[in-house]
Amino acid sequence: MDITGRWWHLNWGGQARGNGWSGKRGMVFKTPNPWFPWNRLISGMEDLLFYTITEGKEMIPVSQFISALRSTGLLTSDPRLSDCMRQLRQSMQDSAGTVMMDPKLFRKCVGANILLLTQAFRRKFIIPDFEAFASNINQLYYSTQRQVGGHVADYIPQLAKFSPDLWGVSLCTVDGQRHSAGDTKVPFCLQSCVKPLEYAIAVHEIGTEHVHRYVGKEPSGLKFNQLSLDEEDKPHNPMVNAGAIVISSLLKVRGFLGVMEYLKKMSGTEYVGFSNATFQSEKETGDRNFAIGYYLKEKKCFPKNADMIAALDFYFQLCSIEVTCESGSVMAATLANGGICPITGEQVLSAEAVRNTLSLMHSCGMYDFSGQFAFHVGLPAKSGVSGAVLLVVPNVMGIMCWSPPLDRVGNSVRGIHFCQELVSLFNFHNYDNLRHFARKLDPRRQSLDDRVSKG
Ligand code: DON
Repeated sequence: MDITGRWWHLNWGGQARGNGWSGKRGMVFKTPNPWFPWNRLISGMEDLLFYTITEGKEMIPVSQFISALRSTGLLTSDPRLSDCMRQLRQSMQDSAGTVMMDPKLFRKCVGANILLLTQAFRRKFIIPDFEAFASNINQLYYSTQRQVGGHVADYIPQLAKFSPDLWGVSLCTVDGQRHSAGDTKVPFCLQSCVKPLEYAIAVHEIGTEHVHRYVGKEPSGLKFNQLSLDEEDKPHNPMVNAGAIVISSLLKVRGFLGVMEYLKKMSGTEYVGFSNATFQSEKETGDRNFAIGYYLKEKKCFPKNADMIAALDFYFQLCSIEVTCESGSVMAATLANGGICPITGEQVLSAEAVRNTLSLMHSCGMYDFSGQFAFHVGLPAKSGVSGAVLLVVPNVMGIMCWSPPLDRVGNSVRGIHFCQELVSLFNFHNYDNLRHFARKLDPRRQSLDDRVSKG
């Protein structure tokens, strides 16, 4: 059935005809305008969307609507859909038996979400065929599960207690499409994955110039916990311990709760916790970090009046912040999306802070494997001793991989394998050519111009 024929004043080409809209882009009516039939336009859009979802049927079970919604990549827990879901739950409570979605209930539920849902069902999200993409990710997940090498970090009991079999991957696109496979609800500590996040917050709060008065931008070529400074007697970059400890001293005035608030916003208010036991153990076993702290103090690397022990304490606290793969993937997606959290729409970090962060993750994020990772995977990432790998596909999605067994360098064995396989399958490497080579899959939405030029 050609449902587009039902509404004379609308078609799905994005043009509104016969409604006074054409040629007036950017025009906003703050009060109801008697000359402009907004209500008719909106209700036309609602009906059109309804019949698109139901494929022309007058009603479908609510469960079918929910499945259709999930197939676009949207979760029913998405904060943008909270009103819609509340209305649905209400209708389910009010009636016995199978609840049917008809145009009336649909209008009630859609409310302010008309544009989001239209984008979702019209396949206008960054990954239009999300089910196919998710099924590819599942295959990569299962093939990576077979990687059984590596050793779980055991320098503190809180890390050693994790089973080597734990393995989870979550992703969140810049449109808030979500997919998870495996152990994605288990909390783990960010450890060094907090370094890019604290750097981003510092740049957002106090600016690039100020932060880089104290820390460099070059890969060190040395171990992450090396007692070493660059030629200007600054830590080499924010991704090594010395750099992160100095940045902790810059951020100290915002306090632990201030940083937590940023992380909570980056995660779209999903799980962000704290492991006090890890924090205590980090302090007890942190001789190397204390040595770095004294070295930094001797070389006058801290801002005036900074308290070195307090900065170390803060650094240990930040390493002990917990996320899950699910919440971590939203944080990564906020970085992929220029600092705007995809599921809340909130601008958490400035575009400049995010760009700096991604640049440094790209060159310094993966310990002594950073050069190889940049070569083979070509994406900004940061790993942590807990087995976490925070991966960003700029302008597309954020990914959090987590599996505790680590390789010789300290990166998660499964995390690295997954990132490599992901880029072998999809053209996500920064230097993959997007126009001429079709050897890899491109799951991204193509613009009309692209399609025409590819023929
Ligand atoms: O500084 C440490 O030893 C840990 N708390 C952080 C370890 C980690 O993830 C390694 N980082 N680059």
